[in-house]
Amino acid sequence: MNERKFLLAAKGQGVFPPPVWMMRQAGRYLPEYRETRKKAGSFLDLCYNPDFAVEVTLQPIRRFQFDASILFSDILVIPHALGRDLRFEEGRGPILTPIEVEDIQALKTDEIHGKLAPVYETVRRLRKELPEETALIGFCGAPWTVATYMIAGHGTPDQAPSRVFGYRNPEAMDDLLHKLAVSSAEYLIRQIEEGADAVQIFDSWSGVLDEHSFARWCVKPVAEIVKRVKARFPDVPVIGFPRNAGLLYESYRKATGVDVLGLDWTVPMKQAIELQAQGPIQGNLDPMRLLAGGRALEDGVKTILDSLGNGPLIFNLGHGITPQTPIEHVQQMLKLIRER
Ligand code: CP3
Repeated sequence: MNERKFLLAAKGQGVFPPPVWMMRQAGRYLPEYRETRKKAGSFLDLCYNPDFAVEVTLQPIRRFQFDASILFSDILVIPHALGRDLRFEEGRGPILTPIEVEDIQALKTDEIHGKLAPVYETVRRLRKELPEETALIGFCGAPWTVATYMIAGHGTPDQAPSRVFGYRNPEAMDDLLHKLAVSSAEYLIRQIEEGADAVQIFDSWSGVLDEHSFARWCVKPVAEIVKRVKARFPDVPVIGFPRNAGLLYESYRKATGVDVLGLDWTVPMKQAIELQAQGPIQGNLDPMRLLAGGRALEDGVKTILDSLGNGPLIFNLGHGITPQTPIEHVQQMLKLIRER
């Protein structure tokens, strides 16, 4: 088999037109997703039911023939597998019982796989059912981002509760992040064993930290994950996505060992070009350009292709597609990329 186009780019080759996929490509903007979601029951039932999880993963591939497919699951299955309770409420997102310092030592990193078995089965089935040319991406949340939900018990705009927790309890925070790193590495390794071609580490909340905390809470645990995954699978590309990391993007690839840098849409083109000179990048169309469509979408796609299109690039959004986005705009985006 020829190497999958997505993997060529992830390993550093310039491919034109670039491979493309979208974060949150399986989701509420698709009527067929909403349909399956209704059948499945709760959001977690959907994540843990391989029949339904395979189905929603394949939906955007059938419709748009993206170059990569991403396992349907959630970053919060790791705290769930570690024994924390978790539910998703309509309109509110994830709700957990906030973790206390005393709870951290009770987290058992070697007992996660029972709960996660259905996810591994989903990966195994997906690799069989996906078209040959479509890469399969596994994923996990970065320890810091996962910890923010465990500590606050829900999403917050600036992760103030977790920053305060970490400053008041630095050793406990290090322990928590280390346990999450160990579990997440195991989780990714199992996904690769079942057929994932690449893995992405989502650090959605790395952009709220000062330089010192970024090094200790974002970079260090992600480096631990990468070290463990690379020890088993040195050739499987790892994508790091430290969203909103700003100038801290510069040191991130080297410090963590990730192969591909995922860029959010606030990264200036000049910086994106510099980062691409050091290795493959992924991104970074503003999801609101996709939602708005028309000229805003055309200009956004053109700017990225003109500046980054010849280097190693995986075309993506700078964050997930939102539920209100019209499907025709996705088709338009793909046309702009593929028919240039
Ligand atoms: O298509 C894909 O990208 C794969 C599936 C995927 C989901 N979540 C499905 C999902 C992936 C990769 C994630 C990652 C994730 N989950 C992140 C990191 C990326 C990011 O968006 O920043 C985070 C922070 C989470 C935690 C999470 N899950 C939140 C905060 C929410 C609620 C917000 C929302 O959009 O509703 C979720 C729920 C969730 N995860 C949905 C989906 C499709 C929507 C739930 C539904 O269908 O009701």
